[in-house]
Amino acid sequence: EADIRKKLPLVNKKVLVTAGPTYEAIDPVRFIGNHSSGKMGFALADELASQGADVILVAGPTAQKSEYKSIKRIDVTSAAEMLDACLENFDSANACIMCAAVADYTPAHVAQQKIKKTEDHFNIELKKTTDILKTLGQQKRDDQVLVGFALETNNEEQHAIDKLKKKNLDLIVLNSLNDSGAGFKSDTNKVTLIDRQLNKTTFELKSKAEVANDICLAVVDLLNK
Ligand code: CTP
Ligand code: CA
Repeated sequence: EADIRKKLPLVNKKVLVTAGPTYEAIDPVRFIGNHSSGKMGFALADELASQGADVILVAGPTAQKSEYKSIKRIDVTSAAEMLDACLENFDSANACIMCAAVADYTPAHVAQQKIKKTEDHFNIELKKTTDILKTLGQQKRDDQVLVGFALETNNEEQHAIDKLKKKNLDLIVLNSLNDSGAGFKSDTNKVTLIDRQLNKTTFELKSKAEVANDICLAVVDLLNK
């Protein structure tokens, strides 16, 4: 078994992966969340582990389970908790893939008791969360590979390239919500990979496991550069 492991491309590489949504508390019983299933991130973690990587999987609330016992899973709830878990693990990671659907806004104040219904109209003040990926991009060393996702509905490629640059990424995975069969709950996905040189690779609609393999191969290439 030791001999087989040695041949795998990601042996002795630590890869940090985030997956799933975040939940932002409003009061003790309510939260703001999103429809991310965590499937893509868990497929990535499994694929990376199958290629020999030491995987740290930071997971938001999700029903997904990993296939590999070697995957170290850290469960988090909010964007702030996900940020902390990522900051604790990024320095020692060779690569990081931010697949999570992190909330962009969180309630400015969390009510300590359940909010009672009174007025006909009710507003919740929100404040921006920290952009985890951008924070990691600012800390990134030359020997680290940082991969982000972009979910877009219009001007997809331009928005993705803007994010690649703004967040100092090595690769961005563009997910288009316009493609049927792609998206949050689906078992399939259709992606375009864009690197720093703005090389674009567009893939067919395929299973999230196969998409994970495509992303993994790209990460192996970037780590070997
Ligand atoms: N991301 C993050 N922290 C946040 C928000 C997003 O790390 N607070 C990461 C996501 O995990 C993803 C990438 O940033 O890898 C792009 O997320 P996306 O929602 O597509 O873009 P945003 O930068 O949040 O911009 P917008 O939602 O306005 O398009
Ligand atoms: Ca966002």
